[in-house]
Amino acid sequence: MSGCNPSRANKFLILYFCPSLLTFNMSESIVISSGAKGEQYETLLPQIEALVKGESDLIANLANCCAVLKEQFNWLWIGFYLVKENQLVLGPFQGPVACTRIAYGKGVCGTAWASGKTILVPDVEQFPGHIACSSLSRSEIVVPVYKNGNIIGVLDIDSAEFNSFDETDKLYLEQLVKSVVE
Ligand code: SME
Repeated sequence: MSGCNPSRANKFLILYFCPSLLTFNMSESIVISSGAKGEQYETLLPQIEALVKGESDLIANLANCCAVLKEQFNWLWIGFYLVKENQLVLGPFQGPVACTRIAYGKGVCGTAWASGKTILVPDVEQFPGHIACSSLSRSEIVVPVYKNGNIIGVLDIDSAEFNSFDETDKLYLEQLVKSVVE
């Protein structure tokens, strides 16, 4: 049809119904870095802090946090389990479908919740009681999420490689969850 540009018309309709897209494009605002893992976290952390600063909704912030980590590191699975009625219940995540509920003290997540400490698992097969949500997972890190001194959930990250996580991940991921939640 002469004089008609459907793609321009579609863009107009999208912006008419979603005006926020005019002023804010989240994916373009994240700078992905290379180099040593510590440097990657150093670049990422201030960006995550800036991202969550203007938003008070916990779920929205946890969801974006997962998206940013996935973009930077592309691990197999990144997500939060949140404490609800004395269980861990699946929250925002990026990656394959996962177990929805984990009991206190069970698996790596439930153990991190019970101990209140970050757990590094170089080989998931060697962790007694590990819960295999995905058969592709080889190593894992679980970081408890504290709010006002209480554990409100855990950040769980799975890798398809053995030995993916170390003290550097522990250090930065603990900082990250703190800045996202507090
Ligand atoms: N492996 C975890 C279960 C959660 S999934 O990995 C997403 C555990 O043992 O608690």
